[in-house]
Amino acid sequence: MPLPALCIRLSFTYGVAAVLVGLGMAMSGNHAISVAHAHLVLIGWLGLLGTGLLLRAYPALAAGPGRWIVHLMAAGAPVQFIGIALDHSGVHAAEPLAVIGSFMVAAAIAWQALRVWTTDLGD
Ligand code: HEM
Ligand code: HEM
Repeated sequence: MPLPALCIRLSFTYGVAAVLVGLGMAMSGNHAISVAHAHLVLIGWLGLLGTGLLLRAYPALAAGPGRWIVHLMAAGAPVQFIGIALDHSGVHAAEPLAVIGSFMVAAAIAWQALRVWTTDLGD
């Protein structure tokens, strides 16, 4: 599957999961995992959606390490979500998952930032 399409499809998968979590919080009245929901919606859905559109607009960014960046972000978002959700639900042993997922997401964003500045984007 072309990388932008993969990215956009994954983004909506995370988007659906994130709003279901939001609805679950709203209906249960338990907002303990709102931080996990906020990061999944903003990184998993909007971050990957933006990345997918970026790679479609600038195919040069999809070449080379482009695929690794997408996979790092796409894998990091759910790891971060699960880690924060468990930690904020009292399962503090899961904190390392939040740390690992967050570093994966941060590395993906930093790497993409580097590529955006160093790749010839054409126009
Ligand atoms: C069906 C859709 C959604 C529902 C039912 C929902 C529900 C919730 C609930 C119950 C909270 C916790 C609020 C609190 O305790 O302060 C929350 C927090 C949050 N939501 Fe959603 N949400 C939805 C969609 C979205 C979307 C689409 C976005 C972003 C694009 C979003 C971004 C956030 C953010 C950033 C927070 C943290 C806000 C804060 O702590 O001040 N949510 N959401
Ligand atoms: C990847 C590395 C990231 C780390 C380690 C991180 C960490 C944090 C922490 C520690 C908080 C405070 C949570 C609390 O009040 O208990 C927070 C809140 C927040 N972060 Fe991040 N963040 C990251 C990335 C992002 C990104 C990329 C976005 C948006 C695109 C974002 C959006 C938010 C928002 C909206 C809040 C407020 C949520 C709330 O109060 O419920 N974060 N983040």
